[in-house]
Amino acid sequence: GKVAVLLGGRSAERPVSLKSGQAVYNALISEGVDAHLFDPAEQPLQQLKEQGFDRAFIALHGRGGEDGVMQGALEWLGMPYTGSRVLGSALAMDKIRTKQIWQSMNLPTAGYHIISESLDEADAADILSALSGAVIVKPACEGSSIGMAKATTAAQLSEAVSEALKFDPQVLVERWIEGEEFTIAIVGDEVLPVVRMQTPHEFYDYEAKYQSKTTQYFCPCGLSEQDEKALQVYAKEAFKAVGAEGWGRVDAMRDDHGQWHLLEVNTVPGMTEKSLVPMAAKAKGIGFSELVLRILAAAKI
Ligand code: DAL
Ligand code: MG
Repeated sequence: GKVAVLLGGRSAERPVSLKSGQAVYNALISEGVDAHLFDPAEQPLQQLKEQGFDRAFIALHGRGGEDGVMQGALEWLGMPYTGSRVLGSALAMDKIRTKQIWQSMNLPTAGYHIISESLDEADAADILSALSGAVIVKPACEGSSIGMAKATTAAQLSEAVSEALKFDPQVLVERWIEGEEFTIAIVGDEVLPVVRMQTPHEFYDYEAKYQSKTTQYFCPCGLSEQDEKALQVYAKEAFKAVGAEGWGRVDAMRDDHGQWHLLEVNTVPGMTEKSLVPMAAKAKGIGFSELVLRILAAAKI
């Protein structure tokens, strides 16, 4: 049948999605699938039906594409689609709800405050000291590190909150974790080998993710077999806890004391040839096209 690769959209991650969608599309074409690019920011969604598509591969990142909105619209159209359903998508997009669920299940995640208005410096100083003096500020529902900043002074925190509030009415102020960053891809029932990211930047920010040549990726990740297994178990639990399904990627850190901290779940992770899920799949002998076909094969409604 005819497959629509949904890409682009209206979120701040549109440029990333255009790359993911193009890579997915190329892979499908190379496998002989009747695939077509479809940008819901440029074409009314009901055209999916009118043009005779029978499945959608969601390669949209961020709001309106990864957060349950598109998933709900496709349910309404009766169009099978890849990845998580409405609820899992919505919960995973929201880093605050995600952390609340994990905490309720005793899954490890760093301490935080929720902020919904700009902070004066006195309040910022209180929050900073309650969170051990260093924090990372994140819009609750963004991706690709957009709107994020580290803060170690009240002035920086207040400024970072104002910046993050431009992206989302809710902001997560999370205790800074000094340590190593890992990511764990999940495809179907399979948890793929862990990847470790290393950047000279203060954190794995937008530039480190997509532009910088100084970011290094390690797979095998350098953890002992036992530690890697433990992290994979946490990742699968964390993924299921928010109701995510089909495929996705869980990000986590290990601090300098060896403690794990789960960061977030991505239900439509980056899918460029250089992205992390394809990297983890490759380590398991699953090529990019096969990965795309596996994700598509699980499309349902
Ligand atoms: N939000 C980006 C696309 C990722 O998680 O890979
Ligand atoms: Mg994300």
